[in-house]
Amino acid sequence: MKTIRVCNSRACSSFGADDIMQSIKKGIGLEVGDKTEEYDLDYCGCLGWCSNAPNVEVDNTKIIMDCETDSVVQRIDNGEGTDMSASEITAVPIKDDFLGDI
Ligand code: FES
Repeated sequence: MKTIRVCNSRACSSFGADDIMQSIKKGIGLEVGDKTEEYDLDYCGCLGWCSNAPNVEVDNTKIIMDCETDSVVQRIDNGEGTDMSASEITAVPIKDDFLGDI
């Protein structure tokens, strides 16, 4: 089963999250909140990639960025997206005396 989450926070909403959701609903034949053996469809909050809005998260691991209504379902079915489980977070060192720079 593919878990599909369409971000509907501010940036993604402004850049067409509702239209993206409509395309997905039409493409897979489900309504928001529906779940079948093949798909689980719902909205989600900000995924942290607002500059690439609208975004869709698949299986809690991939984010499909810069979604377009005519290709989003195909991109989901093709397994496209940036694999966030493989990304590494690099710690940024904070200077002990950072207040001294103000
Ligand atoms: S608002 Fe959608 S990723 Fe931030």
